[in-house]
Amino acid sequence: MIPVRSQFPDDFVFGAATAAYQIEGHANGGAGPTHWDSFAATPGNVVRAEDGAHACDHYHRWPEDLDLIAAANLDAYRFSTSWARVMPDGVTVNPEGLDFYDRLVDGCLARGLAPFATLYHWELPSTLADKGGWANRDTALRFADFAGVVADRIGDRLASLATLNEPWCVSWLSHFEGHHAPGLRDIRATARAMHHVCLAHGLGMQALRAQGQGNLGVVCNFEFAEAGPGKADAAAATLRDAIYNRWFVEAFTAGTYPDAVLEGLGPHMPQGWQDDVATIAAPLDWFGVNYYTRCIVTHDATLPWPHIRMIDGPLPKNSMGWEVYPDGLHHFLTRLHRDHTGDTPLYVTENGMPLDDVLTGGAIADPRREDFIADHLGAARRAIAEGVPLKGFFYWSLLDNYEWAFGYEKRFGLIHVDFDTFTRTPKASYHALARALAKA
Ligand code: FCB
Repeated sequence: MIPVRSQFPDDFVFGAATAAYQIEGHANGGAGPTHWDSFAATPGNVVRAEDGAHACDHYHRWPEDLDLIAAANLDAYRFSTSWARVMPDGVTVNPEGLDFYDRLVDGCLARGLAPFATLYHWELPSTLADKGGWANRDTALRFADFAGVVADRIGDRLASLATLNEPWCVSWLSHFEGHHAPGLRDIRATARAMHHVCLAHGLGMQALRAQGQGNLGVVCNFEFAEAGPGKADAAAATLRDAIYNRWFVEAFTAGTYPDAVLEGLGPHMPQGWQDDVATIAAPLDWFGVNYYTRCIVTHDATLPWPHIRMIDGPLPKNSMGWEVYPDGLHHFLTRLHRDHTGDTPLYVTENGMPLDDVLTGGAIADPRREDFIADHLGAARRAIAEGVPLKGFFYWSLLDNYEWAFGYEKRFGLIHVDFDTFTRTPKASYHALARALAKA
């Protein structure tokens, strides 16, 4: 059973999350090309080479989507602002793009929903990608300009603003593992991206503070690193944890990078990176936690640094093949509070599960998703009881959407989307959540 609203503190915020490229329909409204369009157009990168050109057509259907959020008794909506929609070439403002987010924010307020915006959720304008993207320091400077432009237009009505979503995905997953745009597998580009994305956050914070923008944060993803059975696997898991779970939060809160990671990336870091760390560690008003799963890590001496490989785990999995592991959420919430973020408010900014949902007689039964939500909200409640200043929880995602390299195949939504007709059908989990969150 999903815990009910009264089992959480009075001011606890329940929301649903989305991201621009995954739902809007990038073909609309004068948005410019992004590195996700070209990544998807290159054979072998994305299932069926699908892209975000039409996605959920949220660009036109946002009023219906906001109505659905409000009808689920949610308090807040987490969305992102597409850089290439606001600035199609990365620098020149597209008024139509800003108008869209202006309407969206007003639409939230009209329905009593708190707008939680994230500036960058991955669709880098192609013109900036052409100049080296996140491997180029200049992208961080351009990001600060973009932050200022968005805040100038909608900042007065936002409940909260995050600079970046999941810098690990922006840098490591995209430049070392090659799974996301720009699809590189290059340690030098990785080191640079790992630093420049942090710098973008710091410079963005500076620009936003200078404009008087309040309630600023950043969103990082965390994945529990479990050691495999081998003798060297504990050390491998510790290193994986440093790369994935420590690099960014330590940079943002303490202005340091883990030594164990610098052992591998150090020779490839941009010159003078040490001069940026004070900018990167700008004080945060809140910190966002995206959590989905754990991984099992093994040492593989046949691979170059970091000599790690993931192996299959025994727990029940979702349709991504990710293990379901609610204890990991409790682990990270308590650990972040204890080791990194102290009294800074935390939000679970994403948590959710994809299933092969089937529409039967106009309805979708998804009991495993209900259980997933119940178990993760349970883990969140335990963390709160232990003193963690957790202030909210956002389910990923409101809608089935463009799941990046998996195209439209993975359905995370509380609401089913038919990608031919764009028809929305709330799933059973949506109705269960709405009942749990009904105000007395
Ligand atoms: C997160 C992303 C989000 C979505 C979910 C499943 O890493 O922030 O866009 O892809 O995973």
